[in-house]
Amino acid sequence: MNQLTVIVLAAGGGTRMKSKTMKVLHPIAGRTMIGHVLAAARETEPERIVAVVGHQREEVAAHIQELEPGAVLAVQDEQLGTGHAVRMAVEALGEVGGTVLVAYGDTPLLEGRSLRDFAAEHEAAQHAVSILSGIVDDPFGYGRVLRNEEGDVEAIVEEKDATPAQREVREINSGILAFDAEFLLGALPRIGNDNAKGEYYLTDVVAIAREDGLTVGAFPIADVMQTEGVNDRAQLARMGAEMNRRIVEGWMREGVTVMDPATTWIDADVSLEPDVTILPGVQLLGATVIAEDAVVGPDCTLKDCEIGAGARVVRTHGELAVIGAGANVGPFSYLRPGTTLGAGGKIGGFVETKNATIGDGAKVPHLSYVGDAEIGEGTNIGAGTIFANYDGVRKHRTKVGRQARTASNNTFVAPVEIGDGAATGAGTVVRRDVPPGALAVSSGPQRNLEGWALSKRAGTPQAEAAEQALADRRDGEQGMAES
Ligand code: UD1
Ligand code: CA
Repeated sequence: MNQLTVIVLAAGGGTRMKSKTMKVLHPIAGRTMIGHVLAAARETEPERIVAVVGHQREEVAAHIQELEPGAVLAVQDEQLGTGHAVRMAVEALGEVGGTVLVAYGDTPLLEGRSLRDFAAEHEAAQHAVSILSGIVDDPFGYGRVLRNEEGDVEAIVEEKDATPAQREVREINSGILAFDAEFLLGALPRIGNDNAKGEYYLTDVVAIAREDGLTVGAFPIADVMQTEGVNDRAQLARMGAEMNRRIVEGWMREGVTVMDPATTWIDADVSLEPDVTILPGVQLLGATVIAEDAVVGPDCTLKDCEIGAGARVVRTHGELAVIGAGANVGPFSYLRPGTTLGAGGKIGGFVETKNATIGDGAKVPHLSYVGDAEIGEGTNIGAGTIFANYDGVRKHRTKVGRQARTASNNTFVAPVEIGDGAATGAGTVVRRDVPPGALAVSSGPQRNLEGWALSKRAGTPQAEAAEQALADRRDGEQGMAES
């Protein structure tokens, strides 16, 4: 293939989004719209990628530079039309040769393969210009591809400039065009703006090529949705659902069981191994990775998480958490960034974790907060334990050793360390380190103030219940004595 340059147009305002965020920066499947387009452009292995920015150029340019540091940025101050935008791109490039592809930044479903195949067709046919066209039922709003009796492409006419007969044409310009660079350079200055919109139409280069006796091709894409642009929020949702449908189906083909594709949302950068099972109501976001035989769901949101082989995650909200092989999480667990659970470990119901490393086989089964902690392998943390990491000013760490057994309703006041094989009593507030193997008890001996309810709560249902029970007990004792 020839040297390839991809120009991505993203200067338009996208006013119909009615958003303070630029249209191409809206996310779909965990990437921005332009992020998807840049990924597709990258797959063509181009020499250079040029992005044309205009509206909110600082934000858009910064985002593009983050995703594609090598990209050339061209600024189009005023949106005078696609032809003008491409001219800005060409000027920013300096010199251009080979093949130039033009795409838009708002077509998130576009696949690299389609761009590559189109460029290859264009080059094989040695056309001056090629159009990635589409045959659609409702061509309204699109530029129409006009062909002569022989079927050769003569021109593209925009909706507003078309005659009624031309509007009947159902072959449309998707917007993705391929050019012989040398021809493009010569043609761009020849584009005028004498048309319904008063814009410099890039599409006019088709007629210019024909005037020069050069050939133009139009290659209809079978999957027209790939070239569909997003203009408003309703379209954003529709395209998002379509992209998700494609991603979910792709993973099913790779051996993932998805019980309910309609309620399963998987971002573009998620990675799943065969024999993963996804139950209904699951969102897998960001760069989440799930290993084989893991079962996730129902009702989980996992962002940038790593789930080990055979792990089980139920009704869990997790972000930046690593779950070991064969571990159990949920239901109703909240895994905050920095949570690491070892192989075969457990984070149970109503447990919140943050910056917590929980060792292999270690368990935090019930109703706990574990923040800024390290828990050794095989240790069991009792129900209702709070790792008190915050003194109101600073955060501190707690370390619990291996094979420790801490009892229910404990508070570990950080910084504090509980040794290997140590234990605690119920309700212990651990303020000082517990040596290995020791039992820590902090609550005092229990005292029972007999008859307290009768004297202090006289006349209440509590006192009545106590009175009744004491009377029953006396009767019972009397009966025993008489028999
Ligand atoms: C354009 C095509 C039309 C095609 C349609 C496909 C032209 C003249 N028309 O029409 O044939 O069927 O796309 O969707 O090319 N942009 C800039 N700077 C500008 C103008 C536009 O960067 O000065 C960018 C926009 O941000 C957008 C893209 O180019 O991403 C298309 O612009 P838009 O105005 O939407 O073109 P259409 O009228 O839809
Ligand atoms: Ca458009």
